[in-house]
Amino acid sequence: MTGRPRRPGWVAVAAAAIVLAGATWFWSASLLPGSYPMTSMGYPDYGGGPSAPTPHGHDHSAGGIPVTQLVPDPARPADVRVDLVARAQRVNLPGVTEFDGYTLNGSTPGPTINARTGDLVEVRVTNDNVPGGITLHWHGVDLPNGMDGVAGVTQDAIRLGGSYVYRFVAQEGTYWYHSHQLSHPQVTGGLLGALIVAPADAVPRSVEVPALVHFYGGLRTINGVPGVVRSSARAGATVRVRVINTDQGPMPVWVTGAAYRVVAVDGRTVNQPPPVSGRAMLVTAGGRADLELRVPDGGARVEVAGASIVLGADGAPSGPAPREFVDLLHYGSPLPPRFDPDRPDRRFDYRIGRRFGLLNGRPGSWWTINDGMFPNVPMFVVRVGEVVRFSVSNVSGEVHPMHLHGHHLLVLARDGVRATGSPWLVDSLNVENGESYEVAMVADNPGIWMDHCHNLPHAAEGLMTHLMYEGYRTPFIVGGEHANHPE
Ligand code: C2O
Ligand code: CU
Repeated sequence: MTGRPRRPGWVAVAAAAIVLAGATWFWSASLLPGSYPMTSMGYPDYGGGPSAPTPHGHDHSAGGIPVTQLVPDPARPADVRVDLVARAQRVNLPGVTEFDGYTLNGSTPGPTINARTGDLVEVRVTNDNVPGGITLHWHGVDLPNGMDGVAGVTQDAIRLGGSYVYRFVAQEGTYWYHSHQLSHPQVTGGLLGALIVAPADAVPRSVEVPALVHFYGGLRTINGVPGVVRSSARAGATVRVRVINTDQGPMPVWVTGAAYRVVAVDGRTVNQPPPVSGRAMLVTAGGRADLELRVPDGGARVEVAGASIVLGADGAPSGPAPREFVDLLHYGSPLPPRFDPDRPDRRFDYRIGRRFGLLNGRPGSWWTINDGMFPNVPMFVVRVGEVVRFSVSNVSGEVHPMHLHGHHLLVLARDGVRATGSPWLVDSLNVENGESYEVAMVADNPGIWMDHCHNLPHAAEGLMTHLMYEGYRTPFIVGGEHANHPE
């Protein structure tokens, strides 16, 4: 053995103690308090726009109009009234192994809520026995912030035996609702349903086929049915299939036996959509796509991996997934812009990365936003009426379906290539690893709005922040006696 001089043992011990003390400091510094206002997590990002000095120092929740005041006219009677009762129970879906899940009025997915544009929709939801509490969030509906259904931000979680009334004016389009308390277990477990809003002049122009896609116990289902779903559509009929992706990843949808058009995305009409054949449509997690087609004599089939809807008597035989996708950047025809996105009042970065660190005391490789790990993330501050632009990019190694509540974002460009098609409006944007998007909106819906990844485990791992209108505050906290946990 070659003699390396042996260090005195105490040096090693002291070094270890210093390392341990440092590690302990980092560990305790990463711990989230048991309860905290969501609006004090992170740092305000003004995006180059004006910032008002906050008289209350660091507490961004102090002062301002409480979001509970942001509701539709309380005197207006409801046009559509729905009662929902949420339960935690063993769920038995035909063809799916029984599992512990959630139901609304005894079923999952819950009842489809149908309304027309302009209707005042009123939904009373009661928590029968869900131990952790529940809420309902109206995914994609640009409603008043007080009705957004986010536990700890716009309300307290509805406790056992409690109820909450949601009211909003319906806008045309395909949406869905789901719990925003403990979202990951509750949404994957089935606390969700479809919301379909027809145009005001609802002359039925096509056969309506809702298609809420969800995994139950590892099986892909459409409207709760695994495998092949039959529809009442006959040959010759024009059918509108409203595809809703309630799962965690992007979902290709394709049609076998007929050409189709993508007539709406995320509840927004596509202008002059051309027919598509030999291509699939990629539906973002949380996103929706309405496909319209005429059923040929031989029938047709709308397909996702593992499940399909048969249109026409026998339907077409199942066909393979096309490799090419519809590119919404260049699909349909442009319209004159409603605002000038090239002269924004604020410009924000939403850069998604990943690195090793501690999240609430847990070591791991966690998501970062603009290089910071939750709660060291930006809060995007805006004022009513401003034009706001975001550069969203992703170098985290995984795809992220980014969902902004209460607004639709206009896609301007992807990877530096400008959009040339129909205005492409999204509430759920699929950002692949290595991609970057330029998106813009008008800040026209005040409140405090979540802006998070809709791969729900990712949100629970800190890939979430919020858009905050100056002059508004939330009276609610994360944690606390209601145990509010929006993610
Ligand atoms: Cu579909 Cu923040 O949610
Ligand atoms: Cu994600």
